[in-house]
Amino acid sequence: MATAHSRFAIAAAILGGVCVAQAFTPASAAQAVRQRSVIAQGTSQHPAVAQVFRPAVLAQSPTFGVGKAPTPDQLKLIDIDVTPDGKGLLPGSGTAAKGKDVYTRRCETCHGPTGKEGPQEVIAGGQGSLATSKPQKTVGSYWPYATTLWDYINRAMPFDHPSTLTPDEVYSAAAYVLYLNGVVGEQDVLNETTLPKVQMPNRNGFVADPRPDTPLKKK
Ligand code: HEC
Repeated sequence: MATAHSRFAIAAAILGGVCVAQAFTPASAAQAVRQRSVIAQGTSQHPAVAQVFRPAVLAQSPTFGVGKAPTPDQLKLIDIDVTPDGKGLLPGSGTAAKGKDVYTRRCETCHGPTGKEGPQEVIAGGQGSLATSKPQKTVGSYWPYATTLWDYINRAMPFDHPSTLTPDEVYSAAAYVLYLNGVVGEQDVLNETTLPKVQMPNRNGFVADPRPDTPLKKK
């Protein structure tokens, strides 16, 4: 199922790319870029393919006799991104106490018992290290939003079986990762209302890029 899913996502991404390229009036191109950069900011390293793929853009595209327009149900399958304000979060809930079980079964082999041991990405600790000579980017030291943590776990983890957790399991796994980072308590209930209110330690540690834009040089 995961394979079929990702094949569909790739096809959609190609289709989306073609449509954006074809609808290449300055206004719509700028709009597409804006949509993408908003998402890129919102989910840090993990921009959502689905966002490029807008019915409005599709409607402007000429037809070249290839492919077919996705149905609303097909779009729904890939339109799973969650924005920093929590839009897109699925109904459900979880606590770190419940998440310990999910984490032990589904995450620990790669991230270690406390999130600090690896062998894969270190996801806990490192707070206060960003301005040192050995910055450690973890969920607790770096990530600006708890909502995008939910989004990331929901779409990408466990790395070897992505998108196999239920919404409740995602809330619980996210709660446990936040608990390992000292951000929430063991019994704090996280759901679509409380998760967006979680204050991440590095929330205000991001600054706008101060470098001026430079025009493209012609070769
Ligand atoms: C098979 C190994 C594996 C399993 C199991 C796994 N992960 Fe990961 N995880 C990874 C790898 C590899 C990355 C880095 C991926 C990348 O950078 O593209 C990662 C990245 C992450 C990150 C982002 C770290 C960062 O700051 O960029 C989080 C959060 C995370 N995993 C949480 C989880 C949770 C929660 C589970 C269990 C539900 C889980 N992972 C299960 C391998 C795994």
